[in-house]
Amino acid sequence: MTRPTQEVNIIDLGEGDEPLSNTSNNAHFADILDKRLDRRSLLQGSLSAALFGFFGHSLLSSSSALAAGSSRGVASGPQLVGFDAIAAHARDEVTLPAGYRHQVLVPWGEPISGRMPAFDPLTNTGADQEQQMGSHHDGMHFYPIEGQSPYEGSSEDGLLVMNHEYVEPRFMHASARGQSLNRNAVPLFNGQRPADEVLKEMHAHGVSVVRIRKQANGEWQVVADPRNRRITGTTEMQISGPVRGSDLIKTRFSPEGTRTRGTLNNCAHGVTPWNTYLTCEENWAGYFINTATQPREQRRYGVTREGTSRYAWEKADQASDLYQRFNATPHAAQATEDFRNEPNTFGWVVEIDPFNPQSTPIKRTALGRFAHEGVVFQPPVEGQPIVCYSGDDARFEYIYKFVSAQPYHQATAGGHLLDHGTLYVARFNEDGSGEWLPLVFGMGGLSAENGFHSQADVLVNTRLAADFVGATKMDRPEWGAVHPHTGEVYFTLTNNSRRTEDQLHPANPRAANDWGQIIRWREAGTAQATRFEWDLFIMAGPEGDSQFAGAPLNQEQIFNSPDGLWFDRQGRLWIQTDMSESVVNTGKWAEFGNNQMLACDPVNLVLKRFLVGPIGQEITGVCTTPDQKTLFVNVQHPGATTSAAEFAAGQINSHWPSTAAIYPRSGTLVISREDGRIVGS
Ligand code: FEO
Ligand code: CA
Ligand code: CA
Repeated sequence: MTRPTQEVNIIDLGEGDEPLSNTSNNAHFADILDKRLDRRSLLQGSLSAALFGFFGHSLLSSSSALAAGSSRGVASGPQLVGFDAIAAHARDEVTLPAGYRHQVLVPWGEPISGRMPAFDPLTNTGADQEQQMGSHHDGMHFYPIEGQSPYEGSSEDGLLVMNHEYVEPRFMHASARGQSLNRNAVPLFNGQRPADEVLKEMHAHGVSVVRIRKQANGEWQVVADPRNRRITGTTEMQISGPVRGSDLIKTRFSPEGTRTRGTLNNCAHGVTPWNTYLTCEENWAGYFINTATQPREQRRYGVTREGTSRYAWEKADQASDLYQRFNATPHAAQATEDFRNEPNTFGWVVEIDPFNPQSTPIKRTALGRFAHEGVVFQPPVEGQPIVCYSGDDARFEYIYKFVSAQPYHQATAGGHLLDHGTLYVARFNEDGSGEWLPLVFGMGGLSAENGFHSQADVLVNTRLAADFVGATKMDRPEWGAVHPHTGEVYFTLTNNSRRTEDQLHPANPRAANDWGQIIRWREAGTAQATRFEWDLFIMAGPEGDSQFAGAPLNQEQIFNSPDGLWFDRQGRLWIQTDMSESVVNTGKWAEFGNNQMLACDPVNLVLKRFLVGPIGQEITGVCTTPDQKTLFVNVQHPGATTSAAEFAAGQINSHWPSTAAIYPRSGTLVISREDGRIVGS
């Protein structure tokens, strides 16, 4: 409904993604390298001249360790990539190689539980949204229905579990129609937001658990199941690990500091060896506002300082803690009487048991607090610690590793392994070696004299602790992937427009890095080692400014802003891109077309474009059935490049996946081959 008698005020905080908040004096690695590094060779040489790989070879040439004995495109193992690459394009459609087909499943708003309310973006309520698929699909995993293993079991019946990163309010509310709204904008009416609109947005965030099954005709469908479930921005959660009970997370909702409500901005995910799902809280900071002098645990993460928070949820026109908790400005005598600490209950990795719909999600604080992109595990080894990695996706932030204190035993493994252990942060040395620096209270100067008072304090202030020990500032660490056979770890560094010439480092070797790169490392010995060797695997970009296997990317390969990254069980590396809505299909980004997905064989050094998505979206989230004959891929935020003026005029530039719909919707692609063989092969 429009409210013509009210004052309408458009709030637009711009990009919600990746606020720049590392303003610490912590040295950029280039500064630490000081006189030992001849910076001119870094700046003036070719990219590869400055880069040294495993065993000191150039990482970007075919002589790197992984490629030993092979040259580009010549097999030294089974060929993993067998399709014909597709062309980049900017059309409003999904394209795949010849011989592939897709259907769209579980788009935003698809009913999955309870009353099964039918989707209608203009009339659905906050209560409806809680029983429908959330918006902005992101990381996901297919759990075979047997519930025994995340990678073994049925390839035709399972629980699809996925993140919903954020929302586009203009596509969600009747009150938005006709208003001049950008993708991030929300209208305030008389300075307030209608409470049910806020509730609907909270419920469109979080995680969906939905049972899906392949039908006799080959199409997949949603199946009614008691495990179908929404976990949202309002769901009660437990807080475990070293921060549980800390004064830093005590609120009026949980004066004992053990609980909170909701998970937000869930970007990528993790799959535990014990068959649970991890959802990662990425750009949560902007959802909160504190207009008073902010404590360091808010300042260093970019909590909003003035105006309204990202979606102005604290401005709901209903007096309820559910909304007011997003205003972290202190207003009571003590922390247990207001929500000054509410932001400290976000920024965590959250564990969910998709097979137990009664289970309470648990925030696992031992894994640190930052803009978690995702979590990726080393294959578990009986009797050895669990090892996993997580990137902090903001410019100049870090890559982390967690090693459990207790050993993994398949028979007893569970989430308790994530409550005790050592969190490390990565330092990439200029010579191709690297170190994992422990973030442990009392070690490395993380002590009271330097402002750290407990392990809980170190973890709530993970970024500050990492600054202090001298971690390497990276170009926005996104997803990671562990090679299933070698244990080598690959990470996307998506881009970093702010890096300057005097901040260059061999791992982040481009100033004003618009294109991004993929880095990889090999632990020295066992997975829990504290040293590693690293190299750069791909420098993304156009033909004139990119490298892979000793050559520039060709037209079948060019991509930029790598984000999603995943190894299937055969060792095929899937790479997904997220060019920003503010640049995609413009200027020097135009030749890349819409956001896309590529398949890479890292042994035979083959890279080919596999999928191109519709207008305005990013491709994110990828998994397969155990038989690898069905591939699931998410399309997030189609139509987001529609301008405010176009929106006001009803001219939406994408209607994907249905040309008959008024608005586009995020959705899941279910991809298979007409000949029924393994996808990608
Ligand atoms: Fe939500 Fe870093 O992408
Ligand atoms: Ca992402
Ligand atoms: Ca991204």
